[in-house]
Amino acid sequence: MERAGLVLAAAVVVGGCGTQVYEGDPPAASYTYYQDAKPILDASCVECHRADPSSEAIPLETYAQAYLFRDVVAESVLDGSMPPRRDHEPGLSDDDARALVGWATEGGLMGDPGVDVGGTE
Ligand code: HEC
Repeated sequence: MERAGLVLAAAVVVGGCGTQVYEGDPPAASYTYYQDAKPILDASCVECHRADPSSEAIPLETYAQAYLFRDVVAESVLDGSMPPRRDHEPGLSDDDARALVGWATEGGLMGDPGVDVGGTE
């Protein structure tokens, strides 16, 4: 009986909590495909990672493709193997690497296609 009382009390507390108050930083998962990942992928990866039968590389042109491969994308950027460094190319900037890995590891959110800064609209 005591247990039932506790459960009821907990339910009242949860139900009565209408406004969520975040202390400090806003929720972390704020990177999205359209706002963060796509412009970076388009600029630094899609040149090789596109749906081209002659390419050995996985395609990273669409949200579905990037989402599917997000774990290896994060790995390849973190271990420095991608993008391949060719003559005079510095690879990704720290900001771009952080954003791409952040997107890939924090849920791979899609975001809003209408605010695609890297798109062709
Ligand atoms: C100059 C061409 C080129 C660029 C630019 C490039 N890649 Fe790659 N990438 C390749 C090729 C070719 C492979 C497959 C062969 C290999 O593993 O080396 C590959 C492999 C990979 C793999 C392992 C899965 C696979 O396809 O075998 C990942 C993940 C990856 N790339 C991610 C990226 C990301 C993320 C970027 C941009 C930040 C990027 N690559 C930029 C050519 C490229």
